[in-house]
Amino acid sequence: MGRAEKVVLAYSGGVDTTVCIPYLMHEWGVKEVITLAADLGQGDDLDPIRKKALTAGASESLVADLTASFISDYAFPAIQANALYENRYPLSTALARPLIAKALVEAAEKYGADAVAHGCTGKGNDQVRFDVSIAALNPNLKVLAPAREWGMSREEAISYGENYGLEFPVKKSSPFSIDRNLLGRSIEAGPLENPWTEPPEEIYLMTTGIADTPDEPEYIEITFNEGIPSHFNGQVYSPVELVTQINEVAGRHGVGRIDMVENRLVGIKSREIYEAPALLVLIAAHRDLESLTLTADVSHYKRGIEETYSQIVYNGLWYSPLKNALDAFIQQTQKRVSGTVRIKLFKGTATIVGRKSDKALYSEELATYTSDDTFDHKAAEGFIYVWGLPTRVWSEKSRHG
Ligand code: ARG
Repeated sequence: MGRAEKVVLAYSGGVDTTVCIPYLMHEWGVKEVITLAADLGQGDDLDPIRKKALTAGASESLVADLTASFISDYAFPAIQANALYENRYPLSTALARPLIAKALVEAAEKYGADAVAHGCTGKGNDQVRFDVSIAALNPNLKVLAPAREWGMSREEAISYGENYGLEFPVKKSSPFSIDRNLLGRSIEAGPLENPWTEPPEEIYLMTTGIADTPDEPEYIEITFNEGIPSHFNGQVYSPVELVTQINEVAGRHGVGRIDMVENRLVGIKSREIYEAPALLVLIAAHRDLESLTLTADVSHYKRGIEETYSQIVYNGLWYSPLKNALDAFIQQTQKRVSGTVRIKLFKGTATIVGRKSDKALYSEELATYTSDDTFDHKAAEGFIYVWGLPTRVWSEKSRHG
């Protein structure tokens, strides 16, 4: 008896997930491996990847175009949550995992598989995101993670594959470990493992180095409708097109790089480089529009919700009761968050320079220092008396011992 009869494997076309195919069949007694390659706008041609899985022994090789759902159902809610893990990482990789898990579960159910599999190692967050998401969506499915158990180095994995007739073209081997989708790239390992080492310019693909960015600033406008970005420079775009456009323009001005040491769920600190131009600009613009359209108390309370939201998404709890409850709060707050934000892109910075909204709670009549002022200045005195009363009493009592 093997560990499972029929498995749907998340497939990227890389060495590890390719070696998973013969490994599952020959070491773990799996009878049939169906692969699923997800298109998340990473820009790979998926047809050769589809064929490669068949060569490696897959009985069926599926390709799922998940890009539209990735942006509308995963990225946009995260933007409404202004989600930044540890105040910096906009979750560009983390957001893809629950969606891939959903596609795996749907394929397993459709093809009558008793397990799903992925190529994650035992050190990262992605294994947690896959395993927990799959369990949430269908607790009856087994989850197999060969690379978590096989203990092979990269060279050993390659020669294992070669024993089964697989060929791995010798590419100029990169020391970096990279994950990529339409929202961004994450780059780890190699020389970056020393947190004192400056990242070499060549690792970046979505953002221009400051030395080469335009010498003139560029202004862009993003319009939101109930917290969802809908227009770029006054024109309606599909969610995927909008993100693509903003990635291009912000990246060209060198906006979107992050270099940080982050705390993984498995207890390890890791040095991570990210580039996520559109996602970072959209979160900054969205947060700014909220400052114009939300009441102070909702806005302040939401900051705490945002931090919890970012942590649980990072930690693999996209499909969970707490996440659902936070979503309900966030959705309720977004009804007023409609309007336009103007952003100046220049030499690696995205500065918000203007915002407007029909739903604005900002009142020029109340804010103005001119004679148009309608604020009742005299009312401040009584307010301050009451507001400051506890402090006054405390001070008096402290003076007299
Ligand atoms: N540390 C980031 C995260 O947990 C990036 C993970 C990149 N994943 C990968 N398989 N290379 O979201």
